[in-house]
Amino acid sequence: MKLFVTGGAGFIGSNFIRHVLALKKGYSVVNYDKLTYAGNLANLESIAEDPRYSFVRGDICDAAAVEQALRGCNAIVHFAAESHVDRSIYEPAASIETNVKGTFVLLQIARKLGVERFVHISTDEVYGDMLPGAFADENSPLQPSSPYSSSKAGSDLLVRSYVRTYGFPALITRSSNNYGPFQFPEKFMPLMITNALDDKPLPIYGDGKQQRDWLHVEDNCRGVVAVLERGRIGEVYNIGGLDVEENLTMLHRLLRVLGKPDSLLTYVKDRPGHDRRYALDCAKMEKELGWKPAISLDEGLRQTIGWYQSNSDWMAGVRKGDYLSYYDKYYVNRDTSLHAIADGGKAPR
Ligand code: NAD
Ligand code: DAU
Repeated sequence: MKLFVTGGAGFIGSNFIRHVLALKKGYSVVNYDKLTYAGNLANLESIAEDPRYSFVRGDICDAAAVEQALRGCNAIVHFAAESHVDRSIYEPAASIETNVKGTFVLLQIARKLGVERFVHISTDEVYGDMLPGAFADENSPLQPSSPYSSSKAGSDLLVRSYVRTYGFPALITRSSNNYGPFQFPEKFMPLMITNALDDKPLPIYGDGKQQRDWLHVEDNCRGVVAVLERGRIGEVYNIGGLDVEENLTMLHRLLRVLGKPDSLLTYVKDRPGHDRRYALDCAKMEKELGWKPAISLDEGLRQTIGWYQSNSDWMAGVRKGDYLSYYDKYYVNRDTSLHAIADGGKAPR
């Protein structure tokens, strides 16, 4: 099986490529990635010399380049995206371009070349806010809240239309919040861990009572392989950690493992339109594909914190340049007044 992996230099994509090359002897991988600020070939150093691996730098919106790189591949696993909600709020254009148009270009070329299987990597954010106690299954309505999640929902619908209209062999995974090694420190988990390691404030958006379903990236990779190999064409599969936690509770857990004080916790102005709760019903993955998460949150957090502690060189390599300007712009001097914290998240719904 020759796999074409888009976005393989990012967080989940790089974990996925290492996972596949380690466990699937009959697979080779072409990693197609534009290397945006989030793409980092250092994530793949351990397999860069593997003869079953090759890298092509390219944009998924560039049809000619995609066609050239994709020739000879049997299947696509499509991770490439602008993946950060906050950035999509500050500058939405890139999310729409890559997530919607890029997916369209890939679908067109994949159909033209007769690709046998196309796994589209989507997100639980397409379901939007879940009510307290509720869980989204694969038939729940799509009610995205941010430019990022609406661009992902748009790409999901495009994929669905290609299955229905052209009989294109696509499948969709929707996973919850991934955490683990090699995650770019704009996201909650690595941002909080690395700030805490440096004794810097941990910026809690709004009241910190938002809930997320945490999934270790290795469990997600195993789920994506199961869907790739055994999922039913045209189906959507939710992949969640089944561990729904309030952000504040998660921060207390992190601080305990790190041995750092609660005084680092700092409430800041909320994210506009901030979804309160994500929670997935993953019964379909277990029933159809025998998949369920294997890494507990306790074990995953200890392992992830340990990874950031012992990979300070990797961290220093990404916490510079663009990242520092981003952090300065959106975190330094961010409003910490009670008024901003109480009102910031209440965008119209
Ligand atoms: P990431 O931001 O770490 O990596 C994205 C990768 O895509 C980068 O390597 C980047 O260079 C590449 N890329 C961006 N635009 C591109 C383009 N136009 N052409 C080619 N490559 C491009 O993202 P991630 O966190 O690894 O997420 C991967 C996928 O999983 C995304 O589709 C995201 O929506 C989805 N997802 C992520 C999470 C999560 O918790 N991180 C959860 C659910 C779903
Ligand atoms: O749910 C899946 C999604 O998870 C993926 O589709 C996205 O690609 C991924 O970025 C992630 O989106 P979230 O918005 O849930 O993740 P993020 O890490 O940005 O934030 C997690 C929670 O923590 C959220 O409630 C916002 C909050 N937060 C985040 C940051 C960066 C803070 O309180 N402070 C912060 O500085």
